Amino acid sequence: APETKQEDSPENSMAATLLPTREGWSTPLTLYNNCWLRSHMVDSFMAVRDNFKPRHDDVILATHPKSGTTWLKAMAFAIVNRSRYDLLADGDGNPLRAQNPQRLVPFIGVPGHGGGDLAAIEAMPSPRLLATHLPLSLLPPAVTAATGGCRVVYLCREPKDSFVSRWHFDNKMVKGSQTGAHAIELDAAFAMFCEGCTPFGPFWEHYLQYWRESLRRPREVLFLRYEELVADPLRVVRDLAAFLGVPFIDEEESNGVDREVVRLCSFETLSGFDVNKNGGVERAGGKIFIGYSSLFRRGKTGDWVNHMSADMAEKLDALVREKFKGSGLEF
Ligand code: A3P
Repeated sequence: APETKQEDSPENSMAATLLPTREGWSTPLTLYNNCWLRSHMVDSFMAVRDNFKPRHDDVILATHPKSGTTWLKAMAFAIVNRSRYDLLADGDGNPLRAQNPQRLVPFIGVPGHGGGDLAAIEAMPSPRLLATHLPLSLLPPAVTAATGGCRVVYLCREPKDSFVSRWHFDNKMVKGSQTGAHAIELDAAFAMFCEGCTPFGPFWEHYLQYWRESLRRPREVLFLRYEELVADPLRVVRDLAAFLGVPFIDEEESNGVDREVVRLCSFETLSGFDVNKNGGVERAGGKIFIGYSSLFRRGKTGDWVNHMSADMAEKLDALVREKFKGSGLEF
């Protein structure tokens, strides 16, 4: 990728048009700084590294897409706001009932997604709860500063399940789009996934950047997997609260506040709210419509077995072993 001035400037738009671009998914992807980004978002994401101003008390929820971002946003939002909102309230007084969790924690540099453009992010009072799908290499270096860096919660997922989730989601985006894109066949999607050509991919680079950062700054980077959230959500919710600096006190635990957060953020509860059944959001200048219901598909581990052949699974497992070899990260 060319070394360009990373600002939201006409030069950036020019640079973006010169970068490698591939079709296949619901929107074209462009390779910028070794990361495949949706082409229509490249300019916005180029601006993040120079123009997003991290604060030492920011918490950034970083995820590889389809790892459970919606779930993590819901849990973190519920935890940090538990004294502000009545999590048991029936009506719109509980934001998690009235809005999709994606809107409650803005994505850095993604306009219109709960107010994520950089000016809106800058205007947020501290401490900010933010989110990103960007790899660390596309965030400002201050995020990872040894002193004064941000706290990061990273969530990833077993790659076969992540792939199956991505494939389904992208085809739902195609249905709601006016981009002229066609649904992608499983085989073609698989080939691109294994080449690393998926939104914010290659997935192994993404996982490894945050994994290494969690080893380097273990107190500031909490590394989570979707599978542990499924296996023991209460343990994760408690760990997350402690990490966020707002641990559940004994009285809360005996009153079941932690269990209430788990219940409220569960797949069953969230997917049952009207906003998540019938709401949605427009992206790509109004060309794509993402129904919130498509963020809730099955919510299970091991669903790959219902979609991938044994050959595909073997191939991806081998790739994963090769890419993560020696890192200490295994799936
Ligand atoms: P599946 O497609 O395997 O069902 P993201 O939020 O990062 O886009 O990830 C979406 C995946 O998380 C989907 O996986 C979705 O069903 C699952 N998911 C969403 N909300 C969830 C929740 N509250 N609990 C468990 N899984 C959830």
